[in-house]
Amino acid sequence: MIKNIVCIGAGYVGSPTMAVIADKCSEFKVTVVDINEQRIAAWNSDKLPIYEPGLDDVVFRNRGKNLFYSTNIPDAIREADVIFISVNTPTKTFGTGAGRAADLQYLEKTARSIIEYADSDKIVVEKSTLPVRTAQAVSRVLNSNTKGLHFQIVSNPEFMAEGTAVNDLQKPDRVLIGGLETPEGRNAVETVAGIYRHWVPGERIITTNLWSSELTKLVSNALLAQRVSSINSISALCEKTEANVDEVARAAGFDSRIGSKFLKASIGFGGSCFKKDILNLVYLCGYYGLPEVASYWEQVVAMNDYQASRFVGNMLSAMFNTVADKKIAVLGFAFKADTGDTRESPAIAVSRMLLAERARVAIHDPKAMVNARHDLADVENDVLFCEDPYEAIKGAHAIALLTDWKSFRELDFKRVFEMMEKPAFIFDGRNYLDHDMLYKLGFNVYGIGRKPLTHF
Ligand code: NAD
Ligand code: UGA
Repeated sequence: MIKNIVCIGAGYVGSPTMAVIADKCSEFKVTVVDINEQRIAAWNSDKLPIYEPGLDDVVFRNRGKNLFYSTNIPDAIREADVIFISVNTPTKTFGTGAGRAADLQYLEKTARSIIEYADSDKIVVEKSTLPVRTAQAVSRVLNSNTKGLHFQIVSNPEFMAEGTAVNDLQKPDRVLIGGLETPEGRNAVETVAGIYRHWVPGERIITTNLWSSELTKLVSNALLAQRVSSINSISALCEKTEANVDEVARAAGFDSRIGSKFLKASIGFGGSCFKKDILNLVYLCGYYGLPEVASYWEQVVAMNDYQASRFVGNMLSAMFNTVADKKIAVLGFAFKADTGDTRESPAIAVSRMLLAERARVAIHDPKAMVNARHDLADVENDVLFCEDPYEAIKGAHAIALLTDWKSFRELDFKRVFEMMEKPAFIFDGRNYLDHDMLYKLGFNVYGIGRKPLTHF
């Protein structure tokens, strides 16, 4: 019987996941702890630290009842029956494996806090995304304690996507739980499965061995990113041949073996995990002596970088080979719609390339302005940050649409056209706007993987 669930790491994953567990399991006390005092204060305030549709409701209706946010890590660890670890595991920036391997220092520090404060046996759940076989290292650290305590390690990777996190958590395609193939390991898996069974149908709860579970997380992200890079590679060929990438993706995706999802051509994938997790996979393959496998997956990231630079290259050649001193309105800075998160957003690379060409960049995003300022802090004097999209657009030679926010479709494009320098260009990095309508209004419209609509 478990009573107390604790999550270490109050980020994009830990907090929404625990809020949904608290919502669905009123008999558990759920506590989320973090070393970041500001973050915990924000989780306890009226303005939560992350924007995620539907999250406010779930947090506000459970907070103070059976959902708590705290910086008191020692007490939380002592009380816990099950501890989820959801700390960040970024790409290493130093030493061996820099730029590829996962930086596991936060994970190991968490494991060491657990042995410092625990005074009873516990189940420790890896929620963070980790290299395969990390559970072995975590288990060795935890079970090296000198208090005679026993810890069972379970892998339970998270598959939610930002912008749809609450829905993904409430109705997951699957919950994956991996454990050791021992009686204690199977018991621990069963305990964690019991939490999810409160709301997830049994057939969607998949149990595997520990290493399959850890690896499945990396593979799932790699396969999703690979689809985006595959269709983006084809978008380049479409631009040369007048095939239309959206038509190609739709027609190919109708084949139920291929499927329609994650075939939307774009300026490239962003987000904190796709690139990091593929590079981690690449590093692991190299580490295990599989260079051919490593370079196969590395191409997914290379294609993604190519897509962003190709987009800026297309802008340059369309705008008579110079954007110097021209105002460019960048609409959208978040890595996808419905989030304020800008980690690895292609908008960062695109804005920097435009600045390198000496363009005057004006940025508007409905939810990501704070993060945009932070990401471009070193060049902030060269960038205009606009709370109002029309302020960014006024006097611009071109619009670069980089995030598919619904509000961008609702702009008054007649007014937009009148406010811009002529010829007015729109580069739609998401194929999101109504190109025929824009063309009729007088714009020169460039999408991804389709024939430009120009008045020249
Ligand atoms: P995040 O950076 O938003 O949050 C991590 C939190 O852990 C931070 O608030 C940090 O202060 C805290 N932390 C670090 N070390 C700590 C310690 N020793 N003690 C207590 N707190 C500590 O990260 P995130 O986006 O929530 O990602 C967490 C993990 O989940 C990563 O491994 C990531 O790959 C994985 N993941 C992320 C997503 C996503 O959509 N963001 C989805 C699935 C999986
Ligand atoms: C992704 C996965 O979808 C989640 O399952 C996973 O849990 C998460 O990573 C993680 O491990 O962090 P997320 O990055 O939040 O979720 O968002 P996605 O919806 O996957 O989009 C990723 C990027 O790909 C975005 O920049 C998006 O615009 C881009 N994308 C996606 C495309 O360009 N085309 C598509 O067809 C789909």
